Amino acid sequence: MRGVILAGGTGTRLYPLTRMLNKHLLPVGKYPMICYGIDRLRRAGITDILLVVTRQSAGMYADFLGSGADLGVSITYRVQESAGGIAQALEAARDFVPPGERFVVLLGDNLFKDDLAPYVDAYLKQPAGTAKVLLKPVDDPRRYGVPVFDTGDPAWIVRIEEKPEHPGSGYCVTGIYMYDTEVFRLIRQVSPSGRGELEITDVNNLYASARKLSYDVLKDWWSDAGTFDSLREAGEKLKDALP
Ligand code: DAU
Repeated sequence: MRGVILAGGTGTRLYPLTRMLNKHLLPVGKYPMICYGIDRLRRAGITDILLVVTRQSAGMYADFLGSGADLGVSITYRVQESAGGIAQALEAARDFVPPGERFVVLLGDNLFKDDLAPYVDAYLKQPAGTAKVLLKPVDDPRRYGVPVFDTGDPAWIVRIEEKPEHPGSGYCVTGIYMYDTEVFRLIRQVSPSGRGELEITDVNNLYASARKLSYDVLKDWWSDAGTFDSLREAGEKLKDALP
């Protein structure tokens, strides 16, 4: 199984830090942020990793990570030319994943402690053409993609609402996704949102409306380190997480 880490985007919520340095190269504990996602994948046995980066920062990633050998992985790089959204960044993985194969996608600013292996194992048992997302209860769901459940037992996600004013649950859809190559067909079906981006939530909603989106809930600490507060918290939590 392969892994894809999306490290494009502009990181505007972390200006002026991210005017010079791409968000995923900012320090978290002793390492740049990007190292933690790579570590989570490697520990789950996923060592063939595609890193999607911005044009401006590609050289710095290659300089720091190289082939990935120092971290026990093999890294392939792709450039997302402009920040056209998470689903657009994912599109860059189209020729990285062989037809029909399954893969894990991480948003590069999502930091977490759970072992991915049990979630990946569960996903591998699902039928082809389905997807899986990982959820986390959060204090302020309005900052995130929020799942709305039906009343079944177990409850299905009927839709995901992106940054809703009135959240339909207390969960966030984290930036940890599992797909097979069907996702690339679905990306072609979505149009840019009001903010001009191809939204991963629109793609996931195509799965949800067809009842093809499963979920699990992360058990341990999770954060998206996209704000100054969450970046500081992540530095504290992960200060001894890597050797
Ligand atoms: O962190 C979880 C949340 O991430 C989800 O709950 C939301 O549903 C999802 O849309 C996303 O929301 P954000 O507003 O936090 O996304 P952001 O624009 O900050 O991008 C998150 C990561 O995705 C970023 O670290 C790099 C990558 N990205 C983003 C964009 C817009 C790219 O690689 N390319 C892009 O064009």
